[in-house]
Amino acid sequence: MKSNRRSFIKKVGLAGAAAIAASHTSFSGTKEKDIHFITRSLRSPENTPLRVALIGAGGMGSEDMNTALKHDHISIAGVCDLYQGRIDQAKEKWGSGIFTTGDHKEILKRSDVDAVIVGTPDHWHKQICIDALNAGKHVYCEKPMVHSVKEGHDVINAWRKSGKVFQVGSQGLSSLGNEKAKQLLAEGAIGKLNYAEGFWARHSPEGAWQYNIPKDASPQTVDWKRYISNTVDRPFDAMRFFRWRNYLDYGTAMSGDLFVHLFSSLHFITNSKGPEQIAAMGGLRYWKDGREVPDVLLGMFNYPDSAEHAGFNLSLRCNFVDGTSGTTYLRLVGSEGSMNVEWDRVTVQKNTSVHSDDPFLQAKSQETSSAYADRKKMIGPLETIYNAEEGYKGAHYDHFGNFFHAIRTKGTVAEDPVFGFRAAAPALLCNDSYFKNKHINWDPIKMEVRS
Ligand SMILES: NC(=O)c1ccc[n+]([C@@H]2O[C@H](COP(=O)([O-])OP(=O)(O)OC[C@H]3O[C@@H](n4cnc5c(N)ncnc54)[C@H](O)[C@@H]3O)[C@@H](O)[C@H]2O)c1
Repeated sequence: MKSNRRSFIKKVGLAGAAAIAASHTSFSGTKEKDIHFITRSLRSPENTPLRVALIGAGGMGSEDMNTALKHDHISIAGVCDLYQGRIDQAKEKWGSGIFTTGDHKEILKRSDVDAVIVGTPDHWHKQICIDALNAGKHVYCEKPMVHSVKEGHDVINAWRKSGKVFQVGSQGLSSLGNEKAKQLLAEGAIGKLNYAEGFWARHSPEGAWQYNIPKDASPQTVDWKRYISNTVDRPFDAMRFFRWRNYLDYGTAMSGDLFVHLFSSLHFITNSKGPEQIAAMGGLRYWKDGREVPDVLLGMFNYPDSAEHAGFNLSLRCNFVDGTSGTTYLRLVGSEGSMNVEWDRVTVQKNTSVHSDDPFLQAKSQETSSAYADRKKMIGPLETIYNAEEGYKGAHYDHFGNFFHAIRTKGTVAEDPVFGFRAAAPALLCNDSYFKNKHINWDPIKMEVRS
């Protein structure tokens, strides 16, 4: 019996055996059929194999799939793309035997697909996500969740009906840095939040979306008809296929591409549902390559008083002709300090005291403390830096970890479609503000534009 017990413990692990011993007082009395029952109930949900297919195997979709495959018990179940070069690359990367297709519905029909990653240009997110949910697949959809504000509720409704896990791909909010910032803000590390700012600064052709056009790009290698089947009909144009971000039929301009990340992190850290006023200005200053969208964009946002936070203002900036100001940045400013938030680091800066130049306030303060006017004070550290431990696998890895964990435990994710829409909408409305030259009023609770 002892040796049976030893080999049993080896099989199910010590913790598992302890759990069994706790639930069955007489271990020695355990019969074969009980062991079957016990073994089944002890299978960790984290070990459940999941088969993931990729729809849109370009730059980010491929990175998503590679990151997903770094997790245990994840395998690739297929790839869908409209450009033959991407299909060929997928076979080189993940094996010549994988299932490939140019029609996302062929992926969704397969019973060996548990979840899909949607890495297509933005104008395909809504339809493919809804089709995937209706087919009973879990969905990881790249940001921004939708191409236009009017698509948001359709995705939310399809998700609610499906009972599946749906996570949007602004991976930063799963980072150690964002989690630490959320905790620090709640603990009052910077006092009461009143302002936040963020920016993306780039200065390179690739950074400004001038991607290489493959030499073999043609209607023979690209399924152009399908690509434009849900938008304006046009003759084949390789620029519009490979540099889709520059055109509004497919992309969502700087704000949909980049501001959305800052909204996601900010909303996660503050628990905010979003701003109620949105205004954007900008211009096309440098990359005049036929694009329809600006290369410098400023956004201003008013966050109202809410159950989650006091009112504050947000200012965002995106500059593709930026020679000076670094790369990406998110900063929260409160009454007692500020916090720079990166995915693997948070830097808190504190004020020692608040000095006022107002003569009345200065006289008042001298009256109340004249006996100790020149006495020095104890001061805490002015700057505290929290760094991720060495070997941290990063936000993207964590984001997929959260997605798979939710699927396996029938749980939830932070960046679900409601969260994803609340992050996407103010970003997309920046384009409305910019192009229509007007302020936009948004209801962040009902998720509707206010007239
Ligand atoms: N989370 C991030 O940090 C991050 C970074 C970059 C891009 N993105 C997002 O990822 C998505 C893809 O961006 P990208 O830079 O990888 O673009 P990309 O052009 O490199 O890749 C898009 C791929 O989708 C394919 N495609 C187009 N329509 C399709 C359809 N209907 N069905 C199947 N495949 C289709 C194209 O052939 C292409 O291979 C975008 O939504 C973008 O906003 C997210």
